[in-house]
Amino acid sequence: MLGGVKSVMPADRGLRLEFLRDKRRAQRFYKQLSKLYDTWLRDLFWTEEMRDFGVEMAELSPGMRVLDVGCGTGFLTQGILRQTEDVYGLDITIHQIEKALKKVRIPIVRGDAEQLPFKGETFDAVLSSGSIEYWPSPVTALREMWRVLNPGGTALVGGPTRPKDGVYRLLADNMMFFYDQGEAREMFSEAGFLDVEVAYTGPVWKRDLAIVTRGSKPG
Ligand SMILES: C[S@@+](CC[C@H](N)C(=O)[O-])C[C@H]1O[C@@H](n2cnc3c(N)ncnc32)[C@H](O)[C@@H]1O
Repeated sequence: MLGGVKSVMPADRGLRLEFLRDKRRAQRFYKQLSKLYDTWLRDLFWTEEMRDFGVEMAELSPGMRVLDVGCGTGFLTQGILRQTEDVYGLDITIHQIEKALKKVRIPIVRGDAEQLPFKGETFDAVLSSGSIEYWPSPVTALREMWRVLNPGGTALVGGPTRPKDGVYRLLADNMMFFYDQGEAREMFSEAGFLDVEVAYTGPVWKRDLAIVTRGSKPG
């Protein structure tokens, strides 16, 4: 345990505070951030181009039933809805859900990524963007995604790339969970996914700001 956070990664990084990798703190953070989230803040770090890159990588098609985990104010959800109408959302912060429900007409439940309130084999795809960095145990959440996916289903997760060095790395490690390609593959494999693929995306000022990881549940 580091700073009250269960680590799922090899302990080779020294001390990492990961202040926001805590469910109560993440909710309090988003209760405030919710007011600003859909303004310049999101445009700066999480653009439409990045979202569409992820949605394309998931290879969705009409009729698919899709879950958006950590759906926040519904930005990724809107991208998914362009591919299929059968979409469900889940988020741990009520203020974010209230904002999302003003934009999208889909069922959104309040819940935890690490304990998805759905029966096994319910969805054809499970997507998530910008939420994994707050989950205390990403592998637990990925296992949950695996459980609720139909055989042959796809999981796709976008999260922040761990800066390579210097002060940015120090800041990142003290804020939340930033990870690299190797860790992304490791987490997906540990959760049982096959054919794991990893790609970078980002805004014009940093093209590798985010890592998008995709994996399949065996058919
Ligand atoms: C960056 S925001 C949402 C991003 C959103 N997917 C989008 O495309 O704009 C991250 C969201 O993750 C949610 N979150 C954090 N921890 C969570 C958890 N354990 N389970 C579910 N949602 C969580 C937060 O409440 C917040 O709404």
